[in-house]
Amino acid sequence: MSNADTILVTGGLGYIGSHVVLELMEEGHSVVVFDNGSNASRDVIDSVSRLAAGKGRVDLFEGDITEPAQMDKVFQEYSAISTVIHCAGLKSVAESEREPDLYRAVNVTGTSHLLSAMERAGVKHFIFSSSATVYGNSAILPMLETAPLSPQSQYGKNKVEIEKNLHAWQKKNGGIVVVLRYFNPIGAHKSGLLGDRPKKEAANLLPAILETVSGKRPELTIYGGYNTPDGTGIRDYIHVVDLARGHLQALKYEPDNDGVYIFNLGLGKGYSTQQVVDAFIQETGLTIKQRRGQRREGDVDACYADNTRALQQLNWKPEYQLNDMLSHAWLSHKSSLM
Ligand code: UD1
Repeated sequence: MSNADTILVTGGLGYIGSHVVLELMEEGHSVVVFDNGSNASRDVIDSVSRLAAGKGRVDLFEGDITEPAQMDKVFQEYSAISTVIHCAGLKSVAESEREPDLYRAVNVTGTSHLLSAMERAGVKHFIFSSSATVYGNSAILPMLETAPLSPQSQYGKNKVEIEKNLHAWQKKNGGIVVVLRYFNPIGAHKSGLLGDRPKKEAANLLPAILETVSGKRPELTIYGGYNTPDGTGIRDYIHVVDLARGHLQALKYEPDNDGVYIFNLGLGKGYSTQQVVDAFIQETGLTIKQRRGQRREGDVDACYADNTRALQQLNWKPEYQLNDMLSHAWLSHKSSLM
């Protein structure tokens, strides 16, 4: 590969990474996916290649961010890498509480290895998958990028520590670092060929809904007892394709100065869990056996974005609404069973 704008996407086989890779290819980019395949399938490479229909190109480099030598190797093999989009990491809030050392080793130390390898390779453009979980129980809604950080879980603490390390790295090396704080990505590419297909058990709302409708769970527990109008948690759900496009806008972003730039990627609207479940039923015509449960430990009551900065400075415009997210998630789920 000799294309000058090769983009390295770590975690590119995963739910968010795969949608990012497709958007990059559709814009003609050459992409190298760096992934250890621990929570995703290699088939993703075939799916994105089919969907991109001859546009862009993609190579898979199987490796682990916890192995510095493998990180050096990918930069040596692909000397045209100009930007790294870092999506690799462990992402279960509950698991992070059970396995804090593992989460720190992969998320924090793994990212440090990647940054050191970039330094050695002279790559200075970095886009990072952060999370709205860094805000925790922020008193002021909608959440602004300037809100105080108060992560409630080990996973959230990892994200804050990485963001801090990014500031130090940028200060030392210069370059442009873009931190994208994701709200709640759901949905899938409208073809149904990509989607949230973890190998590990997932505790998130949409996988739980899909497991219930397909009979893998006897019923859906809708956690309640939150300080919200209907008692269920409020979140800012964002279509994963819109989220992926946010990365493209971040890639094009040309600030006047080198530095670290932080953006919320959310729709800027909050929906309660009950509203999401009702909308899913309406959108698909399915029935969901449901019961109201206790509040889930570590959950915030409500979390939704002020996305003005991304709209104005990244020139980003989300296209999809909640009904699209739900119908595409359902389509992707059905396709995965075929
Ligand atoms: C959390 C993190 C997010 C992280 C994500 C990854 C916060 C604010 N957000 O999202 O940064 O990327 O985990 O796992 O900490 N729910 C039910 N029943 C279920 C599952 C979920 O009622 O079986 C409800 C929850 O109470 C919540 C909503 O659905 O209100 C969304 O939950 P989930 O999909 O797990 O995402 P978050 O916890 O918001």
